[in-house]
Amino acid sequence: MKNKEQYIAEAVSKFETILREQTARAEKMKNDGPATDFTKKDHIVIGCCGGDGIGPIITAEARRVLEYLLKDAVASGKVELRDIEGLTIENRIACDKAIPDDVLAALKACDVILKGPTTTPKGGTGAKDLESANVAMRRELDLFANVRPVSIPAEGVDWTFFRENTEGEYVLGSRGVEIPDELCCDFKVITDAGTERIARAAFDFAVKNGKTKVTCVTKANIMKKTDGKFSRICHEICEREYPTLTLDEWYIDIMTAKLVDEKARADFQVFVLPNLYGDIITDEAAQLQGGVGTAGSANIGAHYAMFEAIHGSAPRMIERGDGDYANPASMLRAAEMLLRHIGFTAEAAKLAKALDICTSSDAEVVITGHRDGATCREFGDYVMRVCESL
Ligand code: IPM
Ligand code: MG
Repeated sequence: MKNKEQYIAEAVSKFETILREQTARAEKMKNDGPATDFTKKDHIVIGCCGGDGIGPIITAEARRVLEYLLKDAVASGKVELRDIEGLTIENRIACDKAIPDDVLAALKACDVILKGPTTTPKGGTGAKDLESANVAMRRELDLFANVRPVSIPAEGVDWTFFRENTEGEYVLGSRGVEIPDELCCDFKVITDAGTERIARAAFDFAVKNGKTKVTCVTKANIMKKTDGKFSRICHEICEREYPTLTLDEWYIDIMTAKLVDEKARADFQVFVLPNLYGDIITDEAAQLQGGVGTAGSANIGAHYAMFEAIHGSAPRMIERGDGDYANPASMLRAAEMLLRHIGFTAEAAKLAKALDICTSSDAEVVITGHRDGATCREFGDYVMRVCESL
């Protein structure tokens, strides 16, 4: 058994390693080349991986709809849909890797990825701290902008969240230190380069989409170093490079309250925020839109992009035996964002319109997530039928 002094010495040495690794990561970010323009590529590979729980069921449906909308592009060889096996919790535990090496190589051979939810083991259970596959993929493919749109048309709510996706509380979330029976310490990392790129992504989006206001969300009154830096850099870049935009700032606690304030919420347009706050608040926002099952998520980097549902793998649904009744709407919204990202804007618009119809109160096929509703497959068929009629 180690004594306390030994634990402290080990933690200090681990912290030095972490600081060196993180400064190297920050340096690398500064030297990243120009972003790939997927709309100009002759051949685009879309990798599809199902994940765990309801993941394979809802991903299969989104893949079917993509195949249908892209049939000409697939026939001409411009687009290839490629299945990637092995991103399951069983295989990840067996390989003791957040993403097994062969799966990672297969992902890197694609341009964009459609990914079903993957199960993330919880810490504090005594089991090994296997890192989340999502977090690993975001890091390995450097998918720094997590873009999550939420809208409530009846209220004029049209929000787009730009969640920083590669640092903050997540980057070292599986590498904290512990002195047994005394304490634990996790680390939060915010870099200049990481903040600059997410801020510019949010501001560019705002300008391109005719938005006038961006809201920066932090807890800079408490997390003075990390959130303080995030806030300061967002303000500096906005003032210097985007003079037509207004940047306002809220702390995360009051922000969560404002989103449920029906009088105030339609005033927000675009949000930029560190990783964990973005994780939490986008579930809240999705719930306001109709549930986490309705929201898609785009993970955008300079050279790769990954599209997924914002929710998890719903193991409870599988335990109940209701997996086939899972709602694929979130994956279909993700597929819509994927289409737009690779330049198939007409197909994306068609899918968006079909989804609005298929999830409206007049929908002919209603999915509830339970046996009283339609199956995932029936809903997929319905979406394609509606697409066909548009
Ligand atoms: C999300 C999810 C993930 C996250 C989990 C599954 C690791 O909640 O995409 O929001 O925390 O980022
Ligand atoms: Mg989340």
